[in-house]
Amino acid sequence: MDAQPTAPVPPPGCPAHQPGGRVPLYGPEYAADPQAYYAYLRHYGPTAPVEIAPGVDATLVTDYATALQLLQDSGSFRKDARRWRDFNEGRIPADSPVLPVLAYRHNCMCADGAEHLRLRQSITDSMMRIDPMRLSQSVERISDFLISQFGERGSADLIGSYAKQLPLFVFNELFGCTADIGDRVFFGITGMFDGVNAEKASEVLFQAVGELIALKRRKPGEDVTSWLLKHHTGLSDDEMLHQVSLLLGAGAEALVNLIGNTLHRLLTDHRYAHEGGLIDEAMDDTLWENPPMTNFAAHYPVSDMEFAGQKLTAGDLMLVSFAGANTGPALSAARKAGSNRAHLAWSAGPHACPSKEPARQIAVSAIENLLNRLPDVELSVPEKSLAWRPGAFSRGLATLPARFTPIKPVSRPSRRPTTTPAAPAPQSAAAPRSEQGGGWSKFLNWLTK
Ligand code: HEM
Repeated sequence: MDAQPTAPVPPPGCPAHQPGGRVPLYGPEYAADPQAYYAYLRHYGPTAPVEIAPGVDATLVTDYATALQLLQDSGSFRKDARRWRDFNEGRIPADSPVLPVLAYRHNCMCADGAEHLRLRQSITDSMMRIDPMRLSQSVERISDFLISQFGERGSADLIGSYAKQLPLFVFNELFGCTADIGDRVFFGITGMFDGVNAEKASEVLFQAVGELIALKRRKPGEDVTSWLLKHHTGLSDDEMLHQVSLLLGAGAEALVNLIGNTLHRLLTDHRYAHEGGLIDEAMDDTLWENPPMTNFAAHYPVSDMEFAGQKLTAGDLMLVSFAGANTGPALSAARKAGSNRAHLAWSAGPHACPSKEPARQIAVSAIENLLNRLPDVELSVPEKSLAWRPGAFSRGLATLPARFTPIKPVSRPSRRPTTTPAAPAPQSAAAPRSEQGGGWSKFLNWLTK
């Protein structure tokens, strides 16, 4: 638990030293010690003025009870980003890195009321159709493939070579991607995630998802895309495009961080090594203290109002600090009393993550298989040298270098893949050559060799 300073001291390098300054939730100082920032922000009260990227102001809720109040009051706070006043009044830089995440899209995350219910229902019903047994087998197969790529070396970056890749492979299977489409989904999400050539990456992703939807309309299968298409809510092509892209995008980044942050905990805190149920426990502690989505759940007040002692103006950007609320000093007693999963890592209220069961299952299976295959895996650099990726919304390591006793290549499974690496779809003219024959094709080849 973080210590609350008696006299608030802004973290080193924090421009809040200047009177009237907003506290920046980006850059290397913040990434190195976000908990020092939350401890400082608490002195403002339940909400605090922050800047989430250069020129982008927000009000951040850092108190657990206030966070729940906001998340559950959909009459006063809305999700539709077309209400964002600073954006509508031209105050957000056009190239701001937060725009791809906050900009309005035709999906359930940006919808309210009846429209939200309709869009969300199609997602919850389709995700519920995932067979947990099939999902476990898929994760194990993909995990085996990824380990086979580095197992003989005796060392690997567990983020770049494992945590970052596994969720995308799993999604490609769950959503029924062909080799060509899957390679481009992989390229698109990875590019957006890394912020390298993000505009091109999102163009490639949307084009690939569009082709996936067209393919599944012609030839449905046992996959989430086909279930969404057949859902009784009757999603339009535009809704399908944004719903599928949301599932892939929101799911991938959060899952990478859930796997990476839990592995980090397991490799750096020896308490877990001596207790049964270590993965579940390490994951719960991660969700409490180092959640994958840190400051998120953008909401906009519908009118000028007073909230938690603060004056808000209609259309202000409000964010909830899951990481700050979960670690507030007032909360530790309730937590010790046993409500071990009352954390806010999945958010709460009508927009809480609809996929927490499959997401947790994917992350636990991925970690379990890795630890089974590499039982003596350990960190290969001092913990202090590990770098965290910058950015206000999520928390994840840049790399997690590890070493282990080299293992023989994991043999490919005898089970058939659940997705047929069907005749490749026609190559898109817009697809750059570099993502042809990418990771997903390699995996499908490995399965069918
Ligand atoms: C299989 C992987 C995942 C999928 C497909 C997925 C999908 C989604 C979707 C569709 C929403 C929007 C729900 C709505 O607006 O009604 C959502 C919200 C959310 N998810 Fe997930 N998610 C996944 C994994 C995760 C993980 C691992 C975390 C972190 C522990 C997470 C945290 C959240 C949070 C905090 C929200 C609320 C966002 C907001 O209100 O702006 N998700 N997720």
